[in-house]
Amino acid sequence: MSLPSLLLVGCGKMGGALWQGWLKQGLAPSIILDRRCDAPPAPHRVVRTAGEIPGDFKPDIIILAVKPTGMEEALASLRPFLDGAIVISMLAARTVESLRAACGEATSRIVRAMPNTPAAIGKGVTGVCSSDLDDAQRALCTSLLSAVGDVAWVDNEEQLEALTPISGCGPAYVFLLAELLEKEALRVGLPPETARLIARGTVSGAGALLAASDEESETLRKNVTSPNGVTAKALEVLMAPDAWPATMSEAIDNAMKRAREMAS
Ligand SMILES: NC(=O)c1ccc[n+]([C@@H]2O[C@H](COP(=O)([O-])OP(=O)(O)OC[C@H]3O[C@@H](n4cnc5c(N)ncnc54)[C@H](OP(=O)(O)O)[C@@H]3O)[C@@H](O)[C@H]2O)c1
Repeated sequence: MSLPSLLLVGCGKMGGALWQGWLKQGLAPSIILDRRCDAPPAPHRVVRTAGEIPGDFKPDIIILAVKPTGMEEALASLRPFLDGAIVISMLAARTVESLRAACGEATSRIVRAMPNTPAAIGKGVTGVCSSDLDDAQRALCTSLLSAVGDVAWVDNEEQLEALTPISGCGPAYVFLLAELLEKEALRVGLPPETARLIARGTVSGAGALLAASDEESETLRKNVTSPNGVTAKALEVLMAPDAWPATMSEAIDNAMKRAREMAS
């Protein structure tokens, strides 16, 4: 796939995951702007400040992957490159309205996206919304983002904000599960190497089975749960209404509350 002229702004955890994913697909941003990026220079160009970007560079797409607090500074420095560009913001809790304000007079088209870190291995899920794009521009964004995993267009920002604590933050919950399983393996007397192997293998294997299967996750769970068997006894505890179901709702609500605080 050929890439449009692309400027990646911020090559930290998320920008770096996207960059790694694109490279694995044989794609590369034209220019990476990051003041601390240690990416090798080819096939793209790495610059530390916007002032180093050639004045005649006209990015079709600018991917903004700095911390939400860095939005104004980054977009102010990019003013000469914003006109006519599609700006895809990966920033949590930064609204289209605030992005547009930070772009000033520039005629940029704003897209809000919420990726997740499995993008680094092409297994990400990116939620995305925009009311600024025609069909061809939307297809361009889809092809770029689908190079690092699944793409889920949603109708509006409310839906994007609802998706953020699920898929944007979700890998952290799954890694926590692996951590907790490893700790439990140690607690019940298994040696550290075995604890690590079985915890990681279980989480990644179950994820791979889920990805490979057409079955609902509920069905896959039931398939490994014999009535009154060993798994059933563990699930009795985890699935009690005040246990995981309530804890997960509380966690998602807490994350959404923080996203609203950050947006205001
Ligand atoms: N991490 C995730 O799982 C995840 C998931 C979904 C969405 N996101 C979103 O992704 C965005 C990036 O998060 P992150 O965790 O990847 O951040 P990060 O690791 O801090 O990476 C941002 C990078 O951009 C650089 N930078 C910031 N402003 C710059 C500027 N004006 N010019 C040049 N370089 C600049 C930073 O350098 P300095 O450190 O020197 O500022 C840093 O190297 C956030 O807005 C977050 O909401 C993250």
